[in-house]
Amino acid sequence: MTATDHDPAAPPTSRPIRTFHPRRGRMSGRQTDALDRLWPAYGLDVSDEPVDLAELFGRRAPVVLEIGSGMGDSTAAMAAADPDRDYLAVEVHTPGIANLLDLVERGGLSNVRVAQGDALDLVRGLPDGVLDAVHVFFPDPWPKARHHKRRIIQTAHVALLRSRLGPGGTLHCATDWAEYAEAMRQTLDADPGLVDAYGGFAPRPAHRPVTKFERRALTAGRPVADLIYRRR
Ligand SMILES: C[S@@+](CC[C@H](N)C(=O)[O-])C[C@H]1O[C@@H](n2cnc3c(N)ncnc32)[C@H](O)[C@@H]1O
Repeated sequence: MTATDHDPAAPPTSRPIRTFHPRRGRMSGRQTDALDRLWPAYGLDVSDEPVDLAELFGRRAPVVLEIGSGMGDSTAAMAAADPDRDYLAVEVHTPGIANLLDLVERGGLSNVRVAQGDALDLVRGLPDGVLDAVHVFFPDPWPKARHHKRRIIQTAHVALLRSRLGPGGTLHCATDWAEYAEAMRQTLDADPGLVDAYGGFAPRPAHRPVTKFERRALTAGRPVADLIYRRR
């Protein structure tokens, strides 16, 4: 039987619960061009293969993983301001990836790589303790209770992310969704391998760039919460 044959007696395959919305998006000419030219040098398809970070970046430096990099504005700005660390952005949305590649070229950034696929699969392919920081900025809030199982910040995912941080490495989350912020705090507090670096919500760190999500939230009167935890 080939992979394309369908066996009616086979049990239905269970599909993983995804933390992202499947969506299409139009790309500008600039983004299409950036994707075509820059993907071979800076892109990585998420697969089942283990990822060798030193090989990917061509050097050994502390690595920051940016989960759900969106249009890439935060990643590009932080990488430009922090040349001694490498930034691995992971996103599913192609226009966002293309936009980040364009920003990487325009900024002359050599310390950014861009992975396309599910961040959780990417993280599973990393060895333990290899990351200096994980950023989860404005993750999809999945506000309906029946969708909470899709949230990226939940017990099993946090344990996975924490395992890939080196000792003292940071897990930094930001959200403008108050109920998610509380849920994040409870989940992060309950992880035995993490310590809350600020004993509560963190003061807004200057190194986290303001993106449209934060501007929109502040305009709507929703405060933004930062949560910064360290691996023991
Ligand atoms: C609300 S946006 C925030 C974008 C960006 N962090 C910012 O602050 O501007 C959340 C992004 O996370 C991405 N995302 C959600 N789950 C993901 C996953 N498991 N792997 C990769 N990207 C994911 C979505 O595609 C979306 O672009």
